[in-house]
Amino acid sequence: MSFPRYRDIAEQLLAAMARGDYPPGSRLPSVRQLAASCAVNSLTALQAYRWLEQQQRVEARERSGFYAIQPGERQREPVPPSPPAPPGTWVQVDDHVANLLSLSGSSIATQLHMAECDDSLYPSAELSRRLQHKLAHDASLIGAHLPNAVRHALYGGLQHLADEWQMSLPADQLTMTNGCTEAIQLALRSLTRPGDVVAVETPVYFGLLQTIESLGLRVLEIPCTPSEGISLEALAFALRQGPPVRCLVAVANFQNPTGSLMPDDSKRRLVEMMRRHDIPIIEDDVFGDLYFGSDHPKPLKAWDRDGGIIYCSSFTKSFAPTLRLGWFSGGRYHRRMERLKVSNSFATSSLLQATIADCLNSGLYDRQAARLRQHLREQARRMQSAVLEAFPLDTRIVAPQGGMLMWVECPETVDTLALLQRALQASISFAPGMVFSAEPHFRRHLRLSVGYPWTDRQADAIRTLGELAKGAQRASLL
Ligand SMILES: Cc1ncc(COP(=O)(O)O)c(C=O)c1O
Repeated sequence: MSFPRYRDIAEQLLAAMARGDYPPGSRLPSVRQLAASCAVNSLTALQAYRWLEQQQRVEARERSGFYAIQPGERQREPVPPSPPAPPGTWVQVDDHVANLLSLSGSSIATQLHMAECDDSLYPSAELSRRLQHKLAHDASLIGAHLPNAVRHALYGGLQHLADEWQMSLPADQLTMTNGCTEAIQLALRSLTRPGDVVAVETPVYFGLLQTIESLGLRVLEIPCTPSEGISLEALAFALRQGPPVRCLVAVANFQNPTGSLMPDDSKRRLVEMMRRHDIPIIEDDVFGDLYFGSDHPKPLKAWDRDGGIIYCSSFTKSFAPTLRLGWFSGGRYHRRMERLKVSNSFATSSLLQATIADCLNSGLYDRQAARLRQHLREQARRMQSAVLEAFPLDTRIVAPQGGMLMWVECPETVDTLALLQRALQASISFAPGMVFSAEPHFRRHLRLSVGYPWTDRQADAIRTLGELAKGAQRASLL
């Protein structure tokens, strides 16, 4: 039988108590120490203690921590209040992320560190023609606001997409932004004040951590696995025991970095849970249209009944990376977000909005997204078998069902930050796991982009990475 992670940890503690490592009355490791030694986040460690508390194997003492007790010998005195739950983590994105981003302009030969695709996979020439045509026929798009007729055509195109994705979005709840990043920023600004706690998946896209840091917010990281997505059990626990959470940011479709796709039933339960707690969800569906199956998986927003979900997406991943065109449908927060958009960036380029309207309504977007999906599906398949062949035996990957990312769990002895230094010397880059959390986790994980056509050079690079990982594993055994 396999237990959730917190239960494994609790069982390990029980075994240590049975061995006499922690006799009754002795103090157990702090939540932080336990989290660090088991490579989990504080919430999972706290969850292990709470479970042991329910089993009457540990007790919490105020401002002192957790203590081992004799089975069945729960103290007869009144139960002391529990220690405060972890208050959420202040985010401090360090130099590792800046260093990683700076690799993009460098001469590294095989770049696998960003969530992006090769430019040959986007319709750049066709887009350039359409942009030039737009300008030649309507130069006023440079100097004037977007005409209403064009806006209607654009929103009609978005509504058509949303219908296909099983969401019904009213036209008066659609606004264009500068990328999905701006949409999420506006959502967070409309829901939070500095110091508030935002629940996020862990591991989580480092760009979201940067946005959260810039707004002076704290995060509560909820475990997310490649096969299931965000853990509903851990989230329910955090909402009961943790600090008040202002909102949840979730990527239910092909999460970054794990690539996880939440099953529909979990999505429904997640939406219900958040509605019961009256906590809004900011849904980021930036990878949703890059599915490898037959249809766009349902967004969380498809289950929204009371406008509590802010849906954010963009054309960055699926169509035109540098146009920086995103959009949101903000439910009951839409008006406030629209007002904040004015102070953020005032408006989104009329020329680009008019061009994307054309692309949506002429079918170019649909054709291009279908072509990109085909490439990504094949590239992911090649990458997965190459990694499994080249990396140490107990390396784990859950095959992505969409998106452009592959999350690789190396054996415990491999430190992927050190591995990156060696890989860079061989002119190969990837994203080390530790940039995907505000806490010191995921040191054995790495994220690869599958957004590049499979070539001999890619195959060689994966073989080299595998050799380096095996070398790191051997060195740790010496
Ligand atoms: C999950 C996720 N959301 C948002 C973004 C950024 O989107 P945009 O470039 O449209 O701002 C990224 C980029 O990698 C991402 O991975």
